[in-house]
Amino acid sequence: MDSQKPLLVLGASSLIGQALDATRPDLHLVRLTRMADRGPDWIQADLSNPELADQLASSEIPRCDTALGLAPIWVVAPAIEALARSGIRRIVAFSSTSRWTKIDSPDTSERDVAARLVAAEAAFVSACQTHGVTWTLLRPTLIYLEGRDGNVSRLASLIRRLGFAPLAGGGGGRRQPVHAADLALGALAALDHGATHNRAYDLPGGETLTYRQMVTRIFEGMGRRPRILAVPGGVWSLAFLLARPFLPGATAAMGVRMEADLIFDPGPAIADFGWTARGFRPQFSTPAPPHA
Ligand SMILES: NC(=O)c1ccc[n+]([C@@H]2O[C@H](COP(=O)([O-])OP(=O)(O)OC[C@H]3O[C@@H](n4cnc5c(N)ncnc54)[C@H](OP(=O)(O)O)[C@@H]3O)[C@@H](O)[C@H]2O)c1
Repeated sequence: MDSQKPLLVLGASSLIGQALDATRPDLHLVRLTRMADRGPDWIQADLSNPELADQLASSEIPRCDTALGLAPIWVVAPAIEALARSGIRRIVAFSSTSRWTKIDSPDTSERDVAARLVAAEAAFVSACQTHGVTWTLLRPTLIYLEGRDGNVSRLASLIRRLGFAPLAGGGGGRRQPVHAADLALGALAALDHGATHNRAYDLPGGETLTYRQMVTRIFEGMGRRPRILAVPGGVWSLAFLLARPFLPGATAAMGVRMEADLIFDPGPAIADFGWTARGFRPQFSTPAPPHA
């Protein structure tokens, strides 16, 4: 990626956007957010605003022909026409492997998310084709960024609060958590490789490990001895009801999935744009003890 060329970042405040800022501070990023007064390199705009094209045209931002889509794909897809009118010709956007893993979930809201992703991906591709935008879709597995994400870091804060981690059954289902910084660099690599034009890729992390091993690594990253409470599958739903107040946004289906493999092949991404991802060794700094 040419560091002089302006790159429009949709969803710049996302985990991947934050990691992009930290890993490539040399880039000329034009960051879009709905929030006011973020600073000189930020433009305040809502991708759902019907006036988006006019707003981008009338703003003082440098003209961009390339964009990264880090906002949800169902927000990015309907904005493609406006982005194309403002000069965007190339976009790398993120969807999610949840389109595969949640489609048969026992939880209605999770099935709805999967269906929404499937429909939004199709709408994104169709809008790009119609408006002459070359596209690439990247589908990460579970994203983490220490201290910031709602998956791994949420589990770390639960461990901090409870002193142990509850696990449904043996936690034998395999996972490939992926670091937000690897995704940020992967998206830039995808932008630079012609083989990715008009293609979609699953992007797993660099290590496949069971849910139980993943939890153990989180303890290790917190400098704690692992303390895991295995709850038999049959009583997980009941235990979940009791624990729910501590787990905002969690669903009982997440427990059912702890025994299921959610793994994906990085091969096509490696072949086409040299996808590389680190093993799962998250590092959490221990919060300072309260003053006496
Ligand atoms: N988190 C995961 O485990 C996970 C897993 C697989 C895939 N993904 C996908 O990967 C991408 C990044 O995920 P993330 O978790 O890093 O994202 P995130 O933290 O949830 O951030 C979402 C971003 O979307 C922006 N956004 C939402 N609606 C918008 C709108 N109407 N107009 C403009 N901006 C809007 C927000 O910007 P402002 O609030 O600043 O306006 C925010 O920066 C997303 O496409 C997500 O679906 C996430």
